[in-house]
Amino acid sequence: MALEERRKIVAGNWKMHKSIGEALSFVKDLIDSLSGLPRPSAVEVFLSVPFTALHAVACYTATSSLVIGAQNMHDATEGAYTGEISAAQLIDAGASFVLLGHSERRAQFFEDPAFIGRKLRRALSKGLQPILCIGESLEEREAGRIEQVLASQLIAALEGVDAVSASKIILAYEPVWAIGTGRSATPKQAEEAHAFCRSTLVGLLGVAAQVIPILYGGSVRFDNALQFLSQPNIDGVLVGGAALEVETFFQIISSYWEYELL
Ligand code: PGA
Repeated sequence: MALEERRKIVAGNWKMHKSIGEALSFVKDLIDSLSGLPRPSAVEVFLSVPFTALHAVACYTATSSLVIGAQNMHDATEGAYTGEISAAQLIDAGASFVLLGHSERRAQFFEDPAFIGRKLRRALSKGLQPILCIGESLEEREAGRIEQVLASQLIAALEGVDAVSASKIILAYEPVWAIGTGRSATPKQAEEAHAFCRSTLVGLLGVAAQVIPILYGGSVRFDNALQFLSQPNIDGVLVGGAALEVETFFQIISSYWEYELL
């Protein structure tokens, strides 16, 4: 499938940043900036916001093209899980997608592959679109284990997911060593990993997997975003630090918008 046939997405992940007021002020300014583009962009803009700001931001952006989601969820439907949030609660608060398996969750909160797989199946069964994050550590890369790590993360997450449901997933390749470090993968390194993910997805799920957008994440900035998009297997970016300010986030969206004109 050609790049232009797949959805193109710029997603921001605010992590543990922003009060409700700051979040609302950001989306107001972003909507103003987007409406200033001479013609609408085909790029979809996702924002992964803290739980506390979810409802307010989802209400404020309801008539806009922004897609609002959360950063995590629990796999159970409900119950005695103090401090956790269910898929149904996220949907109730206005989320349409959820990040799952971010490396910060895997490393700092000990989320194992089976747990991430259960969350993925729960999100799909509730109609919440998962953005599944996978990626290798520097140690794994240097040991030549990139493909083994990516394949095992994909296999664990997709276990028991049928091809039709899986076509609703968005995948994000985020090499752990590139997240928040200012040291992004090169476009060639990212493209190689994306091509591997694409062929693994097709191997696991069949041709339906061709529609799954694969985003690159890890120190994406205005000055490198376009280099990623111009790769055949990269369908967008997942942005952390540069998504915290409207100006830097909008610059990334506009670089994609300009690319569409080429
Ligand atoms: P970064 O974060 O852009 O700050 O590297 C990316 C992410 O964690 O998704």
